[in-house]
Amino acid sequence: MRDAYIVTSVRTPGCRRGKGAFKDTRPEDLLVHILNTAMDKTANLEKKDVDDIMIGCSFPEAEQGLNIGRVANQIAGFPVSVSGATVNRFCSSGLEAISLASLRVMAGWSEVTIGGGVESMTFVPMGGNLPRPHPEHTIQHADLYASMGITAENVANRYNVSREDQDAFAYESQMKAVKAQKEGLYTELVPTPAAKYTLQADGTYTREDHLQDFDDGVRDTTTKEGLAKLRAVFAVNGSVTAGNSSQTTDGAAASVIMSEAMVKKLGVKPVAKLKFYTTAGCEPDEMGVGPAYAIPKLLSLAGLSVKDIGLWEINEAFASQALYCIRTLGLEDSMDKINIHGGAIALGHPLGCTGAKLCATLLANMQARGVKYGVESMCIGGGMGAAALFELCE
Ligand SMILES: CC(C)(COP(=O)(O)OP(=O)(O)OC[C@H]1O[C@@H](n2cnc3c(N)ncnc32)[C@H](O)[C@@H]1OP(=O)(O)O)[C@@H](O)C(=O)NCCC(=O)NCCS
Repeated sequence: MRDAYIVTSVRTPGCRRGKGAFKDTRPEDLLVHILNTAMDKTANLEKKDVDDIMIGCSFPEAEQGLNIGRVANQIAGFPVSVSGATVNRFCSSGLEAISLASLRVMAGWSEVTIGGGVESMTFVPMGGNLPRPHPEHTIQHADLYASMGITAENVANRYNVSREDQDAFAYESQMKAVKAQKEGLYTELVPTPAAKYTLQADGTYTREDHLQDFDDGVRDTTTKEGLAKLRAVFAVNGSVTAGNSSQTTDGAAASVIMSEAMVKKLGVKPVAKLKFYTTAGCEPDEMGVGPAYAIPKLLSLAGLSVKDIGLWEINEAFASQALYCIRTLGLEDSMDKINIHGGAIALGHPLGCTGAKLCATLLANMQARGVKYGVESMCIGGGMGAAALFELCE
């Protein structure tokens, strides 16, 4: 197989569902902006040279339906010859899209592809607008449709992840993000137009746009005491709160992937190679343990051990499951290598975008620190984990 080189990897800010800067910005607009920015940042690449664009989305319906991977690429001005697809594996959709786009290059089927993700949790709520579980099979497979928050409670209860530990983890996530924001360390983040519609007295709306250049869920006012006061939201006497859960967020991200021949032809400097990607299933009612299965499977494929990995992005769907995975994988001594600029508890988890967003973050951090191997992983609704290994290019 050939190598697939990621030459550009960028993301929009993540902004709070319904309350944040992108609450009036349609998902197509977020995606169009990030696709065009990824193109602009890739020297000498013309839109006609891109073979296919694969976009992760967890709830591909309504405003982000109708194959947003194709719709957005046409709005973005790619020629009609550039095809587009929408990819869904819930929370790993963006990473799945990057891996599929990379595989096309590895197989020799494409020279240049784009993999990315988008989710507006404002426009399309988690669960979709009209969930319709199968009426007979739901009885036997109720866990497949369980609230993600309940699965986080299950992990906390079954594996003894205390409320105190969840809150301490959430506090660290917020503080790392506050520091990174202050120091301007999100080099993968691109300022993104945000629309604001205001209702006028005559019933019409006015629209104003501004450039949003920061993740607006980060709370520099977070304290351990404040987190401890929050009530559990998913279960009576539970431990999972708004403070130790990932935030529901709007955002988009994209990576440009190409063959070695194309890298040479365009004279671009690649950032990293996607070396391996894998997924693993687990019990749906504790879906958060997914990375504890996917990461060992990934490392075994690669012939590496956790000690070989210089940086980790392990999605913080919930503090309970992230902590469980970190403990099970024996990574407690490596906290300074995990989610170094904060995770989804502070920065948000725009479902289908997250895999592509974490790729952009991981690659930027691997470059900044000169780290050879980085791993990205996340749990997935329905009971799965995904994990990918990236290798920095010299
Ligand atoms: C947990 C959840 C239901 C909370 O939703 P929400 O109420 O809209 O959450 P918010 O972030 O707006 O926080 C609500 C309140 O909690 C408090 N709060 C949240 N984070 C806080 C913090 N770090 N410190 C102190 N208070 C905090 C605030 O009072 C906040 O209200 P405010 O924004 O008006 O100040 C939602 O974030 C969620 O569903 N998360 C999980 C998403 C998920 O399942 N993803 C898929 C995973 S597989």
